[in-house]
Amino acid sequence: MKEFLTLQEIALEARRKLNPNVWDYLEGGAESETSVKRNRFGLDSIALKPRVLRNVVEIDCSANLFKHETRLPVAIAPCGSVDDLNSGGTLAIARAAEEFNIVSFFSASSPTPPDLEEIATATGHPKVYQLSVRGDPAVIDERVKRAIDAGYTGIGLTLDAIIKGRRERDMVSRHVPSSSSNRVAPLPAATETTLTWDHIKRFKDSYDIPLVLKAIATAEDAVLAVEHGVDVIYVSNHGGRQLDYSRATIDILPDVAEAVGGKAEIMIDGGFLRGTDIIKAIALGAGCVAVGRLMCLGLAADGQAGIVRVMELLESEIKTAMGLMGVTHLGQLDRSYLDEVRPVSPPGMASAYPLLGAIATE
Ligand SMILES: Cc1cc2nc3c(=O)[nH]c(=O)nc-3n(C[C@H](O)[C@H](O)[C@H](O)COP(=O)(O)O)c2cc1C
Repeated sequence: MKEFLTLQEIALEARRKLNPNVWDYLEGGAESETSVKRNRFGLDSIALKPRVLRNVVEIDCSANLFKHETRLPVAIAPCGSVDDLNSGGTLAIARAAEEFNIVSFFSASSPTPPDLEEIATATGHPKVYQLSVRGDPAVIDERVKRAIDAGYTGIGLTLDAIIKGRRERDMVSRHVPSSSSNRVAPLPAATETTLTWDHIKRFKDSYDIPLVLKAIATAEDAVLAVEHGVDVIYVSNHGGRQLDYSRATIDILPDVAEAVGGKAEIMIDGGFLRGTDIIKAIALGAGCVAVGRLMCLGLAADGQAGIVRVMELLESEIKTAMGLMGVTHLGQLDRSYLDEVRPVSPPGMASAYPLLGAIATE
């Protein structure tokens, strides 16, 4: 088996292995893909400001999520259809997260099997069960109770998938991901669109398990989430796969962090492909960064081992950057280490992995 020395090689291997339509499903987003590009543009528009002459012999990049110490400030974002990237993907993701000691989300859109109980039995690390929310309280109750019984650490509600985004690459290629054809308990779209803050209140009144709200994209909704006692506020635009022309999540983060004021944990995702990207989010107030496509690249390249290798390389990049910035633990990072700049390359996966761009233009 090839030993990957860089994240770029993993991306290249994933690209080589995946059928072009599946690659497009992974890389692409909604409509003009402006949201996808903005996520990268936002990250690429931040420079790191290093401090020198500090002793950086010991660098600690461990973090805390749900009161669990994790090896990195990184979690695996919920991703359905992962079997399309590598068969057995759902279990491979959970096992990789356990092996590396990070939190993983299990997507309710994953084709079954395995079901949520099998994932819970197979792995012992902290896991969040993620529901793409339907407004039908009975469905929420059934799933939440099962997840609690199975020992999940938290429940995640995805709020930006109530209507399916128009992913035009898939529409043009007629590609149907397995999560669309295998939806658990398919329900008419109308029931998904009836969700309101009343459901969140009802959830918090009914269950004693940490609640993650995924797809908070404004300070106003972050304030409402805090008022409703939400435990983890997850800033996301679904990797640009749902609403087009949304803001870059890294641009949303400072407003949300200020609005939350330490009253809830903050996570973020959207375009994170490098250790330096993660450092930028921590400096702007996130406690943890989730990776979707990056994890999928590892999975496609080499299954569980590929995901673990992604995390090892991220750790190496984070430690290298922290040392070069004169920082020995993540708590030292703040806005004084960042500056706003003009990006040097067009936004996209290739702005993080230039070798990928070289292949695409061959
Ligand atoms: C292949 C794929 C499948 C996804 N499936 C889900 C899902 O089932 N539920 C969900 O909440 N988000 C889903 N997402 C969105 C991710 O959870 C996450 O928000 C997004 O990937 C973050 O952006 P990034 O891919 O640039 O890291 C999916 C993303 C990808 C790439």
